[in-house]
Formats: sequence, C-alpha cells, structure tokens
Amino acid sequence: MIISHSWSNHKYQKTEIIDFSACYNQIQLLDMEPVANWEEQYQQNDDRWDIGKVSTPLKEYFDQLINKNLKILIPGGGNGHEATYLHQQGFTQVYLLDVAPTPLKQFAERNPNFDKQHLHLENFFDHDSSYDLVVEQTFFCAINPTHRKAYARKVSNLLNPNGKLVGLLWSVDLNTDHPPYGGSKSEYRAYFDEYFSYLYFDNARNSIKPRANRELFLLAQKQAI
Ligand SMILES: C[S@@+](CC[C@H](N)C(=O)[O-])C[C@H]1O[C@@H](n2cnc3c(N)ncnc32)[C@H](O)[C@@H]1O
Repeated sequence: MIISHSWSNHKYQKTEIIDFSACYNQIQLLDMEPVANWEEQYQQNDDRWDIGKVSTPLKEYFDQLINKNLKILIPGGGNGHEATYLHQQGFTQVYLLDVAPTPLKQFAERNPNFDKQHLHLENFFDHDSSYDLVVEQTFFCAINPTHRKAYARKVSNLLNPNGKLVGLLWSVDLNTDHPPYGGSKSEYRAYFDEYFSYLYFDNARNSIKPRANRELFLLAQKQAI
C-alpha cells in the first residue's frame, strides 16, 4: 500500500496574486518536476508545505551569524520567509530563487525594499553565481530523488571556498511518486559526502511542532578541492 503524505502546516495571510505570466513563459519546463505544477499550486493557494514564517532551526542559525554581508541563496524558496527574515535582520546580500513566478511576485510586494535584482525566476540547476551560504528549506524534498546527487553537486559548485549549506531534510519515508519525497541520513550522506564536511548533521532539536522528530538539521561546509 502506498501511503500518500501531504504537507502538514498552518497557513498565513495571503496577498493578492498579480499576473506574472510574461516571466513565467520564459521558463522552460523541467523534465523532472513540471514547473506548471508548482505555479498552478501557488495560483490556487495550495501551498501546504509553507509554514508561514522562517523555521525555528533556521532562525536560530541565522541569529548567530555576525557577518551581515554574507552572500546567501535560498533556492526553491517559494514565498521566501527565510529571505524576509534575513532582510529584516539587515542581511544585505540575500537572493531568492524559484521556478514559480507567483511566490516571487508576492514576495516582492510584501518586501518592497528588497532588491528586485536579488529575485531569480530560474531553474536552480541552471543558476550560475557564487555564494557564501545556501539555505535549504523543503526544496530538496521537492525535487525528484534521482536528482539528489545533482543537487549536492550544484550546491557545492555554487559555493565559494569554505561556503556552507544549511537547512532541514526529512528523516522519514514519505511519498515515492510525488513530492514531498523523504529519506534518511544514510541515504543523504551518499549524495553529500563527496562534496561536504559536516559541521552538524543530526536530528533537529528545535523543529516546529508538526515536524518534530521528523527532520534533520544539516550544516555542511564545502570541501576544499
Ligand atoms: C515544497 S516547495 C518549498 C518552498 C519553500 N522553500 C517553503 O518551504 O515554503 C518547493 C519549491 O521549489 C520550487 N522548485 C521546484 N523545482 C525547482 C527548480 N528546479 N528550481 C527552482 N525552484 C524549484 C517550487 O516552485 C516550490 O516553490
């Protein structure tokens, strides 16, 4: 029997959806997860993965960062609660990337002082830049598991020397045919070991309640080549 897992979260106040179709049309459909599905779900306000705020583990990690000029990428960032939080805390080099235009448009409306040049409507795997920190929050579990090794390699390629990946990964089995895809620490190590050294990779101790004991906190540093 296949058990279908859905995203268990609470919702937050939505802003009005504004047409962003000009940009949307420029995005090529991906072979792995049709971009239209994500965009359609946002347009239908069906974003059950969205917890409505920065997650506690990431907030606590961000709160101890001293350098506000770190260049930070949040890929598959959706409504961008991490980006909003970092922006509000005075981080100046925060970049939000997603294939779906609607959440980026809504993010720009909610954060009028956020530099629009820092919003990337793009396939993560096509993105080309360099960062000090990449933030993972329910993006890894959204891509097809066959692309997980490519995700690890891509994050590593995007990071500057000594750059870090920080985020949360499910530590439970979820769906096998559609997101969210789950997994385990031992499975994930098969993807990340080649590119990263682990500063912390264990059960998250401060998850939000619906995700308690179901996710790993990952803080990994790019290995020197
Ligand atoms: C499960 S949602 C998570 C969104 C956000 N991180 C959150 O926690 O609310 C996955 C996000 O990844 C985006 N996405 C899926 N495939 C992508 C890709 N190849 N490149 C960039 N974004 C992608 C989707 O549009 C969606 O916003």
